Amino acid sequence: MEANKKTIFSAVQPSGKITLGNYLGALRNWALLQDEYHALYCVADQHAITVRQDPASLRRQTLELFAQLIACGIDPERSTLFIQSHVSQHAELAWALNCYTMFGELSRMTQFKDKSAAHADNINAGLFTYPVLMAADILLYQTDLVPVGEDQRQHVELARDIAQRFNGVYGDVFAIPEAYIPKLGARVMSLSEPDKKMSKSSSNENSYVLVMDKPEVILRKFKRAVTDSEGGIYRSPEKPGVTNLIDIYAAVTGKTPEAVEQEFSGQGYGAFKPAVGEAVVEALRPIREETERLLTDKGQLEALYRQGAEKAAAAAARTLRKVHKKVGFVPR
Ligand code: TYM
Repeated sequence: MEANKKTIFSAVQPSGKITLGNYLGALRNWALLQDEYHALYCVADQHAITVRQDPASLRRQTLELFAQLIACGIDPERSTLFIQSHVSQHAELAWALNCYTMFGELSRMTQFKDKSAAHADNINAGLFTYPVLMAADILLYQTDLVPVGEDQRQHVELARDIAQRFNGVYGDVFAIPEAYIPKLGARVMSLSEPDKKMSKSSSNENSYVLVMDKPEVILRKFKRAVTDSEGGIYRSPEKPGVTNLIDIYAAVTGKTPEAVEQEFSGQGYGAFKPAVGEAVVEALRPIREETERLLTDKGQLEALYRQGAEKAAAAAARTLRKVHKKVGFVPR
């Protein structure tokens, strides 16, 4: 590792398929950041089991997501790309950090409140302590920056609080991480209920676009996107649907939202919505095609995730050893 580079870490859950929101809010930036930073990225399968998963689907989705990350431009040679459950230090550090995290802090996490409302029949302890595992993911690698969408900000702040608390007792054990949130795409909204974030856990398939959706499906979803009856193509808090479409178009074309407003000024939704759909199709096409290609060679994927886990474990073991020593465990 080059000493002068800062470290970034991020992860995505393989619960269901990834959406345009995951791509614009996170994955796209991961590829862009890997030259400037020492980068580690992981498929967070341990996080995914906080809600019930079908085992065969979880396995398939984990591999598909691993391939998608490479297809999004993450280079497994330059970055460390791995599957969370393959690096046992994540769960081990999470245990230690559990003892430095307060019940009250975890009770305040908005995602816990939302998810426990959505899964009232399965409010398990993992759902509650999930942000501690996330803190362990981040802190194991002496991470400086965590590129995430807006919805993960609170969890990254908790990781920061836990690190500061631990360092306060034992000296400088952890780097203090910061969230790194993109200006455009940090909060891609649902296409059917634009006051909610786009989420793969929604029961309405028209509310989200998947990275693996076929072009005709993407176009159909954008044509059905909820707008308003006012008709103008400009951003406004009163026009959440249109604002979301403008932001998506800007994010995938690299234009500013202002330029997009000008480009479509005087036009109707009948022209605008398909144009957004087409732009998204073109942005996602190479990723979908490359993912499909990568998935045909399972042997190569296996070699890559094994190599990633080995690299990650070497770095993770250094931090865990320090933590165990500080808290008073007898060295192995
Ligand atoms: P997850 O899997 O829900 O989402 C992965 C990334 O996608 C971002 N994202 C969005 N961005 C913009 N608009 C949206 N509608 C949208 N939906 C999701 C998320 O902010 C995230 O960056 N707990 C994490 C995974 C995780 C993690 C970590 C992240 C586990 N350990 C350590 C960072 C560091 C999660 O569930 O993300």
